[in-house]
Amino acid sequence: MTPNLEWLELIEQARGVARNAYVPFSHFHVGAALRTVSGKVYVGANIENSSYPMSRCAEQSAIQSMASSGERGFTQIAVYSESSPPASPCGGCRQVLFEFSPEAHIYCFNDKGEVLEGTVKEFLPHGFRLEQG
Ligand code: THU
Repeated sequence: MTPNLEWLELIEQARGVARNAYVPFSHFHVGAALRTVSGKVYVGANIENSSYPMSRCAEQSAIQSMASSGERGFTQIAVYSESSPPASPCGGCRQVLFEFSPEAHIYCFNDKGEVLEGTVKEFLPHGFRLEQG
């Protein structure tokens, strides 16, 4: 997919926020930027912790920021990393993305122009969701 202007904005934001990643253990910077249904953009970077399991991926940081601001749905998310191939959301993050927007599009990219893309549902077939009452 050739990124349109909406994607280009998310791509730039994801690459930019990766600079804020707190990664003293892995030294692996990841940045994520998503657009909500209402058109707002939220970003997140991976934030590690001395207690390793408390570390947080960039995608989850972006979702937490979105949901904390009261937004509940997103249409697209760009994920930047320096690796080749580009980092693909971990299983846990796929579930976190699935909770809010199974139909949203994911665009994982790096500086080499390599891209991995698909819908959240494609990345996480048969994801779990409780019926909302
Ligand atoms: N990480 C992310 O933030 N997102 C991904 O899609 C893959 C992995 C982070 C977690 C950890 O801080 C570092 O990358 C190495 O695993």
